[in-house]
Amino acid sequence: MTLDKKHSINNILEENRLFPPSKEFSDKSNIKSFEELQSLKKQSLENPTKFWESFANSEIDWFEPFQTVLDRENAPFFKWFKEGKLNITYNCLDRHIKNGIGNKTALVWEGEPGDNKKYTYQELLKEVCKASNALKSLGIKKGDLVCIYMPMIPEAMVAMLACARIGAPHSVVFGGFSSESLKDRLIDGNARFVITADGGFRKDKVIELKKAVDAAIESGANKIVEKVIVVQRTKKDISMVNNRDFWWHELLKDQKDWCEPEIMNSEDRLFVLYTSGSTGKPKGVVHTTAGYNLWSHLTFKWIFDIKDDDVYWCTADVGWITGHSYIVYGPLSNGATTLMFEGVPRASNLGAFWEIIQKYKVTIFYTAPTAIRSFMKSGREIPDQYDLRSLRLLGTVGEPINPEAWMWYREVIGDNKCPIVDTWWQTETGGVMISPLPGAVATKPGSATFSLPGIEVEVVDKNGEKVVENEGGYLVVKKPWPGMMRTIHENSQRYLESYWEYISFKGEKNVYFAGDGARIDNDGYIWIMGRVDDVISVSGHRLGTMEIESALVSHKSVAEAAVVGRKDDLKGEAIVAFVSLEKDINSFPEIVEELKKHVVNEIGIIAKPEKIIISDSLPKTRSGKIMRRILRSLAEGEKISGDISTLEDSSVLEKLKEIS
Ligand code: WT7
Repeated sequence: MTLDKKHSINNILEENRLFPPSKEFSDKSNIKSFEELQSLKKQSLENPTKFWESFANSEIDWFEPFQTVLDRENAPFFKWFKEGKLNITYNCLDRHIKNGIGNKTALVWEGEPGDNKKYTYQELLKEVCKASNALKSLGIKKGDLVCIYMPMIPEAMVAMLACARIGAPHSVVFGGFSSESLKDRLIDGNARFVITADGGFRKDKVIELKKAVDAAIESGANKIVEKVIVVQRTKKDISMVNNRDFWWHELLKDQKDWCEPEIMNSEDRLFVLYTSGSTGKPKGVVHTTAGYNLWSHLTFKWIFDIKDDDVYWCTADVGWITGHSYIVYGPLSNGATTLMFEGVPRASNLGAFWEIIQKYKVTIFYTAPTAIRSFMKSGREIPDQYDLRSLRLLGTVGEPINPEAWMWYREVIGDNKCPIVDTWWQTETGGVMISPLPGAVATKPGSATFSLPGIEVEVVDKNGEKVVENEGGYLVVKKPWPGMMRTIHENSQRYLESYWEYISFKGEKNVYFAGDGARIDNDGYIWIMGRVDDVISVSGHRLGTMEIESALVSHKSVAEAAVVGRKDDLKGEAIVAFVSLEKDINSFPEIVEELKKHVVNEIGIIAKPEKIIISDSLPKTRSGKIMRRILRSLAEGEKISGDISTLEDSSVLEKLKEIS
């Protein structure tokens, strides 16, 4: 892990434009000024225990109160709000009904073919209770891990909440992952139950989810998976196995619409969510109940400045942490109206997003920089055809946003009046860590601005020393926070090594290293510079280079593979793979396509390499390490700079230069 040329942080253009929120926006905000924000931050630094305690008590309803705010005994395996008892679905549903907003719309859903549905809080609770009872009827109990592999339909949200209601942690696997990836996650999580659908609609195509579940079971998960629940969505033919597969609608039909919420301990697992790291195997990030509930709730409230009549829309998929925290738990815990869309903009409907904003009068819109860049490319004529005047606040997440895209978003979508919140966070952090609060912070295009109250970050060098202003370094979090991951499923050693032991801190222990580089400018604004490990971000999707390499070498013709990211105007990064074939295999013209297909089968469409370069051998040091720095330069089409004297065989490089 180095801060090499890929992260040549200091040559980024100085961005000096400053956009303060309008007085009108600030006056109506929950946190109205920079001073108010600073005072909240000051409180959180001076007395963190009191700070978290008071929010935990004011924002969360407890069945039994906690005594200990933070237990550091076994740090960095921190425990939050020990002794407390709660159920997150009570906070997301029941309490709003008790508070008299049972008839407010909780979920607005729009399907890709244009079908749609709304649920009030009351209706959503009933549906969740029925589903909870259905899960119980199949023998699913508190503590059982349930895998959810679904399209973006209301049942995905209902399934997550039903699991949480009965205390069965969920493991949502993004519907775009292949059956192989699903199988790995089922096996790693030991998930005996799967909730899926016959299929889903995406970009005018049908994604055959049930078929993928069958394949995952047949190819290795058969010893683990006992029962599969299938939602009918596409009505295409699928095969149902007797006593293993059950239709969701049949199971729910006669269930009672009330189910008592399970009494959960604060530190009981709420979910496991797999994400890529710098080794070949994805990590099962574990989040627990109370801390996650508080952090997703509080960040949602602060950052989106939520009001009673807002219609809030996050375009992520529930298969990612963004969907967990900011489609499901954060919005519902706040009693907000959250919108869910099954489709994505596609050639046949480039204006799909704007149509939805117009139709449902969306007020807050949260999406990814990649999406914004693709809207830019297809021109402002498209959004200009729609009435977007309902919008009052815009957000971005998932990858750094270039100032140009930020300005376009502000001008074309936000009509120069909507603040933009650029939110930095990770699967591991549970909720946003760095973001402007829209009524309080003047934004700079491309900067996520400041850490939130309660969150203390710093940019340091390899020895843990704070770097000077404007110097690039490693972004670390210096204090625990409630929404933090608790461990990696079945791999606490990896938890320690990946996040807590990478940077050797002088004097300070338990500093969390996020894997990103950053710099802080003269005004204290934080600029995220992207990953400094072997993780790349393709259209905001996080992928480990090793994961793609393992997929490539699992192909019978491949001897070795090295994967790097190359800058891409649209996707942020694109995947370039260097591959050497087995000795007895001569390169053949179809091999590149075959290998691309192989990666799609092994991981999923999001991991498809853009370019594969077949080479006799790969550049290595004398000790046998692949020199990725060289491959990155080759992929970028740059001159190879820096030391190449450690190369074992320089002729390899010469040949690669010719063919890349
Ligand atoms: C990585 C985490 C949590 C949201 C979805 C991605 C990158 C995330 C930003 C941002 C620059 C960002 C980081 C981070 N990232 N948000 N606003 N600016 N980079 O979650 O899959 O866990 O990926 O996404 O590199 O480490 P994830």
